[in-house]
Amino acid sequence: MKTVVIYYSFRGHTKAEAEKIASGISAEIIEIKEAKKRGMFSAFLSGCPAALKQKGSKIVLPEADLSVYEKVIVCAPVWAGYAAPAFNSILEILPKGADVEIVLCSGGGESPKGLAGAVQKAEGLGLKVISSREIKTAV
Ligand SMILES: Cc1cc2nc3c(=O)[nH]c(=O)nc-3n(C[C@H](O)[C@H](O)[C@H](O)COP(=O)(O)O)c2cc1C
Repeated sequence: MKTVVIYYSFRGHTKAEAEKIASGISAEIIEIKEAKKRGMFSAFLSGCPAALKQKGSKIVLPEADLSVYEKVIVCAPVWAGYAAPAFNSILEILPKGADVEIVLCSGGGESPKGLAGAVQKAEGLGLKVISSREIKTAV
């Protein structure tokens, strides 16, 4: 099954987890960046409220053709209990027929509402979510 790990990472913890997952299953990996470089102030001031409302942010679209993948593992950090805004934008570009696994990374490791919200958001976009989990990282 052709698999890709696609991730957004603000400070590197999600990047490390995404790389571990990808290397463990020999999958390809794609990093998604936000179009506007974000600092910590903006992460808290505008990023957290957007995460809470499950809104997206402007991302740089990947050059790769995502429709070739049968399975996509999406990794993103938790902000204010919910997936960071870039996660919601990544969902918009995923191929509808692929199996989707959601992996959220957080300092607390306990964001059940955020995880459930992420699944609901993905399913609302017509994506086929086959699993979801949260990884506890450094804060
Ligand atoms: C703006 C911001 C908000 C955060 N909010 C939460 C939170 O609500 N719950 C939690 O457990 N961790 C929270 N964290 C910690 C991150 O989710 C955690 O460190 C994650 O691994 C960061 O991934 P990254 O290094 O790829 O950005 C927050 C971090 C930032 C920067």
